[in-house]
Amino acid sequence: MSTARSADAVHVRAPGKINVYLGVGPRHDDGYHSLATVFQAVSLYEDVYAHPSDGFSLEIHGDVDVGDVPTDDRNLAMRAAKLLAQTAGVTTGVHLEIRKGVPVAGGMGGGSADAAAALVACDALWGTELGVHGLHELATRLGADVPFALHGGTALGAGRGDELTPALARGRFDWVLVTSADGLSTPEIYGRLDALRAHGEALADAPPLSLDVPVAVLQALRAGDATALAPVMFNDLERAAIDGRPDLELALADGVRFGALSGIVSGSGPTIAFLCAGPDVARTVQQELQATGRTALHVHGPVAGARLMG
Ligand code: C5P
Repeated sequence: MSTARSADAVHVRAPGKINVYLGVGPRHDDGYHSLATVFQAVSLYEDVYAHPSDGFSLEIHGDVDVGDVPTDDRNLAMRAAKLLAQTAGVTTGVHLEIRKGVPVAGGMGGGSADAAAALVACDALWGTELGVHGLHELATRLGADVPFALHGGTALGAGRGDELTPALARGRFDWVLVTSADGLSTPEIYGRLDALRAHGEALADAPPLSLDVPVAVLQALRAGDATALAPVMFNDLERAAIDGRPDLELALADGVRFGALSGIVSGSGPTIAFLCAGPDVARTVQQELQATGRTALHVHGPVAGARLMG
């Protein structure tokens, strides 16, 4: 629990995400790859409390293992607070308290959610009133997934993943997540994909490398049809993430054997997301996966982006 929660703190909650579709194009000179992706925000959250302070500091608690998360300027939430202060000419500081619910280095955008939440929380704490467009611009500068954590829901991402277009998604999709104690580094996974491609290995089972989200993905989301979505989910990073991780390949097979419609590595992994036909099936799949000794969570999407809780 909080060691420093104050009555005048601002509380903001931001969600983790799954990439329902992730097509990765070529690497550019800035180190980023072109993407054609569809994000869905799911009901696993980061809670950020912004406490008034003269300086800048940060503490982290968690429902998940927070061992390696830095609390200095390497932390994206800290960078977000300082960027907002600098942009808006704020001369005071903030003490950020982060309660993590999204797996660390899990491919679900937990750090990006922290940054989005910190922007919204500090904007409210300091009364900087940057508005949606101002915060979006800062989010884009902080990282490719930060704008989506701000907006939430279901959205197409182009460019580095930060050029967002909201996508219609009817109803609710039930997901079971299998988390992993050993995280993966996002830049390393992108690098491994480049290496696999250079050796001509990664595209054997992939659709043609066109950077468009298939119409079938958007139609299934619009119809709220999990059965139609399951066979068209795709992640170009999956091969790179499961390379040398037989545990992930085994988990993917087990989830489907236990009744999930389909499983996919989330973003750069190693979290696996299983799409299920409904909440009852999802609970069964979760229980069966837990019975094998894995950590499995039942979540749903889409949910809202970063929002003020009080
Ligand atoms: O922007 P963010 O900090 O989330 O990105 C982490 C890393 O993931 C980048 O430094 C880059 O190596 C890789 N990345 C990429 N292409 C993207 C998004 C991320 O290569 N579109």
